[in-house]
Amino acid sequence: MKKTVTDFLLIENKQLNKDNFLLVLQSPVPVSDIFPGQFINVEIKGSPEIFLRRPFSVLNVDYEKQTISLLVKILGRGSKKLTEARLGETINAIFPLGKSFTLPDNQDHILLIGGGSGVAPMLFLSKICQLNPANVTVLIGARSVSDHIDISEYQPYGMFYFTTEDGSLGEKGYVTDHPVFSEQFNRYNKIYACGPDLMMKAIGRKAIDKGIFCEVSLENMMACGFGVCLCCVEDTKTGHKCVCTDGPVFNVNDLKW
Ligand SMILES: Cc1cc2nc3c(=O)[nH]c(=O)nc-3n(C[C@H](O)[C@H](O)[C@H](O)COP(=O)(O)OP(=O)(O)OC[C@H]3O[C@@H](n4cnc5c(N)ncnc54)[C@H](O)[C@@H]3O)c2cc1C
Ligand code: FES
Repeated sequence: MKKTVTDFLLIENKQLNKDNFLLVLQSPVPVSDIFPGQFINVEIKGSPEIFLRRPFSVLNVDYEKQTISLLVKILGRGSKKLTEARLGETINAIFPLGKSFTLPDNQDHILLIGGGSGVAPMLFLSKICQLNPANVTVLIGARSVSDHIDISEYQPYGMFYFTTEDGSLGEKGYVTDHPVFSEQFNRYNKIYACGPDLMMKAIGRKAIDKGIFCEVSLENMMACGFGVCLCCVEDTKTGHKCVCTDGPVFNVNDLKW
């Protein structure tokens, strides 16, 4: 798929909670070829010491308005700098990068699991599928209620459940402690997940064990974002693969877990 390097216009920058920001970027070129699980590699302007681009999953796309929304969590200097960008500034990014999730169809009962900023591609997937909402369950985990973002825009697309490590919203514990995961896993024929490595492994291993289709999006550290530097490799059953080009979405059966 053709990659585009372009200057986006920042048209919205909204703080959602302590560490998470919603950035809406308007593209001068069509953004019709972006699907859930794909990411964009963003240049951090005004900080010569941060010379590598930073990867961010796509949270939402408005194909008519040519906008891409990102959920940016402040982790270090690059993400912080990005959230400080002002409306009207240009932000250079390469898109679309990586492979997307396999889109489900109307017969599927799907479970989408997002942890931390891994919620972004799950929300995009819930919206783009347009399945019967009764067949779409979305399970979102975070440390505390203050780390969860408002998902009301996505509520019509599925049934939402939450976990927090401190019990301040939804079930106390990890997503894997929630009854949707621990007791009702077999109700679903397709599982999609994005989040921290340990969470992906716990979900993936259960799906392998139960023989259920499962795709996970990995968040390995990246530099180039298009298969040149080899810093993002993951060991798979068919050898080392670049997460930025062969992933970030992988079927769990292909991974050496
Ligand atoms: C495919 C992909 C999609 C992503 N999507 C999103 C998203 O939608 N929203 C979002 O907020 N973040 C996302 N991330 C993570 C985001 O890219 C990093 O948070 C960002 O690059 C950190 O840059 P920084 O300069 O702020 O931090 P740095 O100063 O580079 O790092 C700060 C600390 O975070 C650690 N770190 C950096 N990157 C990662 C990583 N990928 N995984 C684990 N630890 C890391 C570093 O080791 C260091 O300890 C994604 C990453 C990948 C690979
Ligand atoms: S980030 Fe450079 S090869 Fe994947």
